[in-house]
Amino acid sequence: MEKKSYSPIQVALEKDKRYAWCTCSHSNNQPFCDGSHRAHNATPSMGFSVEENKEAYLCTCKRTSNPPYCDGSHK
Ligand code: FES
Repeated sequence: MEKKSYSPIQVALEKDKRYAWCTCSHSNNQPFCDGSHRAHNATPSMGFSVEENKEAYLCTCKRTSNPPYCDGSHK
């Protein structure tokens, strides 16, 4: 079985675009939701947007206290 990485993923976020951050870890398109939570009866995605274009590190371990952003909890 493939070992999952829990490091954050750097993404370029666009102002006012709607994003769906995966909260359940099942998505194959981390850090974003791909709908896999439905098949796993898991928690749904968390929608978010940003007020300006920016680079961000999004959490993939799902233990962050500041979703969708990495807060270092994966270490
Ligand atoms: S696949 Fe994880 S929240 Fe949708």
